Amino acid sequence: MLRLQGKVVLITGAAQGTGEGVARRAVAEGARVLVTDVQEDKGNRVAASLGDAARFVTLDVTREDDWRGAVATAVSTFGRLDGLVNNAALLAMGLIETTTVDTIERLLRVNQLGVILGVKSVAAAMREAGGGSIVIVSSVDGLMGMNGVAVYSCTKWGIRGFARSAAIELGRYGIRVNCVCPSAGNIDMVAPWFHTMNVARHERFLRDVPPILRTQGQRAGVTIDDITPAICFLLSDESARITGTDIAVDAGWTAGHVRPGLPGFLDDD
Ligand SMILES: NC(=O)c1ccc[n+]([C@@H]2O[C@H](COP(=O)([O-])OP(=O)(O)OC[C@H]3O[C@@H](n4cnc5c(N)ncnc54)[C@H](O)[C@@H]3O)[C@@H](O)[C@H]2O)c1
Repeated sequence: MLRLQGKVVLITGAAQGTGEGVARRAVAEGARVLVTDVQEDKGNRVAASLGDAARFVTLDVTREDDWRGAVATAVSTFGRLDGLVNNAALLAMGLIETTTVDTIERLLRVNQLGVILGVKSVAAAMREAGGGSIVIVSSVDGLMGMNGVAVYSCTKWGIRGFARSAAIELGRYGIRVNCVCPSAGNIDMVAPWFHTMNVARHERFLRDVPPILRTQGQRAGVTIDDITPAICFLLSDESARITGTDIAVDAGWTAGHVRPGLPGFLDDD
């Protein structure tokens, strides 16, 4: 039995990257999906490649009218709505002191308002379906602080708080709300910000992180293929008793740090 058999899932930011990966995995696990994004051509191509199990709708997550239209399309096309993956987001890197109000507002609107409108917009359809599962894609930057990403980090922490309150408020309708906090995703999200980095040092940073999980002595980097199973687990009934919490998909990055000199410290740490 495929674990998402019969379920209908709306995914935001699904024209590429993690969202596209979730759409492909959810269909492979038996779901029908509404692929949504502001990138129409790419989104249409992703949906077309998934056949009858997918349909594309343009959805700018900051526009409540778009949300109404997307939810109505999910219900009229597939008959119900069981899942929402709030995945769309923007990144900005820079110093707090030089970040413009325009950039701050853009991140708050897409990364936070977009998530809030998503939950607001799907609640009635999920109640109608007898319950549902909402997965909000946060980040390791929503679990810890880091220089250069303060505004992005603020948005990713904020939606974790929203998720908990939403889980409490919507639990009575059988609607679960959880977050996934990955340490990676589509490199294209980070690439436009390479100019703000000291690339040589950044390569060292990537080599050093995460320090916990190893396979045959190698540090394990997280890929989109590590993130999508966690999201599909939370969409499925296998997680029926899990709500208001987070799953970090970060190979142990946010577990803590390796302390030199204490037992368990290895020479190559
Ligand atoms: N890339 C990383 O390293 C990384 C790390 C941790 C967490 N994340 C998170 O993973 C999620 C997916 O990001 P990704 O890595 O696939 O990056 P991505 O840039 O490939 O995907 C983001 C998608 O969101 C869409 N989008 C942007 N603004 C939108 C709007 N207003 N309305 C609807 N769609 C919009 C984009 O068109 C794009 O398809 C995001 O929530 C991101 O914060 C990414």
